[in-house]
Formats: sequence, structure tokens, C-alpha cells
Amino acid sequence: MSHRVLSGCRATGRLHLGNYLGGVKGMIELQNNPNYETFYMVADAHAITTPFSVNELRQDRREIIIDYLAAGLDPKKSTLFIQSQVSEHFELSFYFSSIETIARMMHLPTYKDKVKQYPKNNTMALLNYPILMAADILLYKADLVPVGIDQEPHLEVAREIARKMNQIYGTKFPEPKRFATKGEYIPSLTGEGKMSKSIEGSYINLTDSFDEIRKKIRAVPTATVSGGPITGGIKTLFIFAEIFLPPNLYQEFKEKYHNQSLKFVALKDTLSEAIYQELKPFQEKRKQIAANLNYVEKIIKEGAEKAKIVAQKTLKEVKEKMGLN
Ligand code: TRP
Repeated sequence: MSHRVLSGCRATGRLHLGNYLGGVKGMIELQNNPNYETFYMVADAHAITTPFSVNELRQDRREIIIDYLAAGLDPKKSTLFIQSQVSEHFELSFYFSSIETIARMMHLPTYKDKVKQYPKNNTMALLNYPILMAADILLYKADLVPVGIDQEPHLEVAREIARKMNQIYGTKFPEPKRFATKGEYIPSLTGEGKMSKSIEGSYINLTDSFDEIRKKIRAVPTATVSGGPITGGIKTLFIFAEIFLPPNLYQEFKEKYHNQSLKFVALKDTLSEAIYQELKPFQEKRKQIAANLNYVEKIIKEGAEKAKIVAQKTLKEVKEKMGLN
């Protein structure tokens, strides 16, 4: 049997550079490897675990599919779908919730962070976030998941659930592993934490113009003189330099930094140009795809149909093993 891959992005706004480098690039790499059968979704139900706007969610679901297509995900090679259109995800997630404890879920760092961020929205859906994510993955019996390193605690939960289900009910779930890319941790433009849609001023949109990118990169906080330990905004810039610049140019900037001759604005503008060059083909392709919404709707419909075939099969097996058929 070929290996299966599943991944997804939360439908909170359009994709940004962090999603692209940490997730989508790995998704594309695996899609183009004939040993893998790839399933990529838009996690719209995960978006309702924190405060959201109905109208924005409705748009974001389709916009992310367009982002996927423009980035190079190919519906001929990958099944592209919207999570809530395959209701089997929710059914499996409820069955999984019967073997997971509240205490375990409450101790996850991702949960604690969100409760801190939205203290008035400490909901059951938020507590269940990792269980739904485990269902997303295991419904397709995926053993490889291309996501950023911040998702590792969730993958650990998915592995635990797979093991427990197999032990208790004799199911045959694989224990999914993370597929890492070199952009697995994309730092925030603010110099603190990771690039995130929910932190204003932290991210570059994939559709930002050169001027917007330059403005954002120029705003990354740095010291007035170079030299000293590489931390905060300076660290962000050097992580970008390593990803986006040719190795010799990256080394050159680093040496200049250490011998205190670096002008930050020179590094910043070189980076802005390199980031823009990486995004330009994406932006051009995106415009073409967005002009053909019938095509996009067709991909979405067919994706859900294909995903459902696999999802229903797994769900049937689980129900039989649990005495629910
Ligand atoms: N939790 C992931 C994130 O925030 C999104 C996600 C939901 C996901 N379900 C998934 C990722 C299943 C991989 C597999 O980025």
C-alpha cells in the first residue's frame, strides 16, 4: 500500500509566508513524490474554535483553496477539500473523544496559549481541537503530516489516539509523523514568537506587493549598530536570509554583522527583493485562478467526493470495531 499524507491550514484569513514555508512547501514536495497519496484540506471547523466572523470564514475557505492551487498543489495529484464538507471528520472525532482525557487536553501548550489569548472563549470546541485534528489525520490513515514544528504536540496526541484505538479496539491506525521542511519555524516580524495570522504586524501575506513587503521588513526591530548576539528582530532577518538568499550572500551579511559593518537597511531591502521574487510567480498564477471561480468550485466539489470515499471506509471499520454498526 502506498503511504498517505494529510495536512491542512486553519481557515483564519488567507495564507501567509509562514504557512507557505512551514506547511505548503512540504505539501507540494510530497504531492510530487509518487510514493504518496496526498490529501490536503482547509480546516474550516478548526477556525470556529476561536472567535471568527461568519462572512470572513465563508470567503477564507475558498481563498485558501485558491492559495493552494496557486502555490502548486495540483488537483490531479492531490485531493483538495474543505474539512466541514466531509462530515466523517466530526463523527470520528467524537468516537476518539471517548478515549482521551480532559486533563491531557487541558495541559497542551497550544490550548493554554489560546485560552490566554481569548479568555472569554474557553470552549469545548477549543479543548477538542487536537482530537478533531487527530480525526483529520487518522480518517485517511495518513502516516506523514507536513506541518510546522509548533504542531508537534498535536501530532503526539494523534499518535497516542492511534495507539490507544489499536490497543483497545483492534483498529489498524498508523502513528503519524511530522514531515519537516527547512522553513518549519518562521519567526514573527515583531521579533517575538512565530509568524501568525492572529498577531498583527507579525506576517507577510503571500499577496503582498513589493512595497508592502519592503515596508514590513523595514519595520522589523533591530539594534542601531550590528554585532553582538543574534536575537529578536535580527534573528528573524537572519532566518529569512538563510531561507531566501544564496548561501554566499547569507554568509557575507553574517560576517558583516559580526564585524559591525552591516547596514540593516541593506540586508532588509535585499531580503524584501528576494521574498518578492519568490512570491511573484505565485501572485501571477493566483490572479488567473481567481478569475475562474467555476473551476475552483469544481475542484472543491470533486475533492470532497474523493475524500469521502476514503473517510467512509475508515469510519465504517471503526464503528464495527466499537460495536456501533
Ligand atoms: N492545527 C493546524 C494548524 O494550526 C491545522 C490543522 C487542522 C491540521 N487539522 C490538521 C494540520 C490536520 C495537519 C493535519 O496549522
